[in-house]
This record gives sequence, structure tokens and C-alpha cells, in this order.
Amino acid sequence: MSLRLGDTAPDFTAQSTEGEIKFHEYLGDSWGVLFSHPADYTPVCTTELGKTALLKGEFDKRGVKALAVSVDPLDSHLGWKNDINETNNCTVEFPILADPERNIATLYDMIHPNASEKATVRSLFVIGPDKKIKLTITYPASTGRNFQEVLRVIDSLQLTANHSVATPADWKQGEDVIVSPAISTADAIQKFPKGVKEVKPYLRYTPQPNI
Ligand code: BEZ
Repeated sequence: MSLRLGDTAPDFTAQSTEGEIKFHEYLGDSWGVLFSHPADYTPVCTTELGKTALLKGEFDKRGVKALAVSVDPLDSHLGWKNDINETNNCTVEFPILADPERNIATLYDMIHPNASEKATVRSLFVIGPDKKIKLTITYPASTGRNFQEVLRVIDSLQLTANHSVATPADWKQGEDVIVSPAISTADAIQKFPKGVKEVKPYLRYTPQPNI
């Protein structure tokens, strides 16, 4: 059965370009992004892993460890990593997990047989420090993911984990947020000293509380 939000992210041990990884131990108290790509030495995947490497500072700032995975073996990953670095002018420092036995792919339901019998689709899981799954997205092989969107969602997840707010459509760091529907407007006015704007009784905005 596929994994759902709030489920515990399955633990595993796998070889990677950074040595053996015990997943939960590797994440420690960090957030994690585990993302699959269909195959090594393919063009879209080469750009995705390059983009992730170039955004390392952004992931670090948010306390997030990225891990890529495909069903290709470790020697293939090691060779391909050089191509990723060369073509994206980057240095891949995050682990690329080898999953030739499809252990991770099976645990995370990353093979969708009607899309491909053999290769993983572009699955992405954001995992919180409690090891629970906070977000899943699935793209087909032909569409590269938007890693700015991944960072934007992580900003929302980290904000809403700690404050009684939700983030509206297209929200970006620094913009007003929505007061949780569970809080009355009277309580919200006490809780959010920067102010509460009531558009409708169920739609109240407040400035982002953690900046
Ligand atoms: C790619 O990464 O470019 C790719 C991989 C599998 C199918 C189609 C594209």
C-alpha cells in the first residue's frame, strides 16, 4: 500500500555515493527529502540532481538533508555523478542511493507499473524530524521537478509545524499567512500581536509570525 501523510517513513540501509546509509540514523534530528529518479545517465535526472546540488545552501539553511535514489547500482551512480558535476557546474555532496534490488523503491511505492515496469517515477517525500511523512509528490519521468517549489513547501511545513497558521495559495516566505480555522478571531488577536485581518469569519490573515 502506498505511504500516506503522517505515516512513519520506512527505515532502510543502502549503499550510496557517500557510503552506507542507515536512513533514520542518517537523518538524525534533521528534515529529509528522499527523491527518486527513473535512471542514471538520463537528461532530466541530470538537471534535477544538479539543481539539488546547487541549492545545497538553501537546504542546509532549513536543516534539510537530501537523498536521491534510483534502481541503478552504485558504480553507475559514481560515474554519473561526475557528469552531473560537469554539466551543472556543481559538486554533488548529498548521497545518491543505490537500489538495484528495489528495496527502497518497494518500501516507498516508487515503481508505478502502468508508467514503467522497471524504473521509479519521480517520487519525492519530505520527512520531518519525527520521521513522519509530511509531503509526497509524484511526477512522471518526462517532467523535471521544480526545486524552488520543494523549498517553498518546506518553508510552509516548518512554519505551520510551529505556529497555528496555514499558508495560502502561492504563498512565499515573508507573505501574510492564514490563521488556523481552529482558532477564534478573539483568540487570534491575542495570539498574533502583529495583527489579524478578517476578510470572512473563516478567512483571517496575519503577518508571518516567525520573522
Ligand atoms: C530523463 O531523466 O531525462 C528521463 C528518464 C526516463 C524517461 C524519460 C526521461
